[in-house]
Amino acid sequence: VVKDTIGLLKSELVLKGVAARLDLAGRLPLVLGNATELQQVVLNLVLNAIDVLASNAPLGRQIVISAVENGEFVRCSVADSGPGIGQEQLDRIFEPFFSTKAKGMGMGLAICHAIIDAHGGRLWAENAPTGGAIFHFTLPRNK
Ligand SMILES: Nc1ncnc2c1ncn2[C@@H]1O[C@H](COP(=O)(O)OP(=O)(O)OP(=O)(O)O)[C@@H](O)[C@H]1O
Ligand SMILES: [Mg+2]
Repeated sequence: VVKDTIGLLKSELVLKGVAARLDLAGRLPLVLGNATELQQVVLNLVLNAIDVLASNAPLGRQIVISAVENGEFVRCSVADSGPGIGQEQLDRIFEPFFSTKAKGMGMGLAICHAIIDAHGGRLWAENAPTGGAIFHFTLPRNK
């Protein structure tokens, strides 16, 4: 699903001058889920990253999407080299209609959260020590 979603975003990434790298572990356990919904999650996270990277210098626009096995879960992370998320915003970004964008609806992350919840996983955000935001979500492995 991650590979397919990045495929869909290829021309958008080129247009916005963003370099996206995939770092997917070789033998990930299978997860059971709705592929269209999970695609929506990856799409929203990567589109948000592309948005914030617009304010970076052209050579500083990077996204890394990784997936690893983590106990009973698979954890997927979307990291960007953007400005990160302010402390007071970190508590609010998953609320419906919270947006700092002129034309933002503020629904992207609320939808992602609902989808991951419904799959028995968790979605959260943090700032990377090196700057930039990282969004992580987990999905239970299929038993
Ligand atoms: N990668 C990121 N780096 C910094 N801030 C972010 C990032 N992703 C999201 N945010 C913040 O979280 C807010 C909410 O994101 P969300 O995707 O829910 O809404 P939106 O992108 O503003 O609008 P839309 O409904 O079109 O997705 C954003 O407006 C932005 O302030
Ligand atoms: Mg969004």
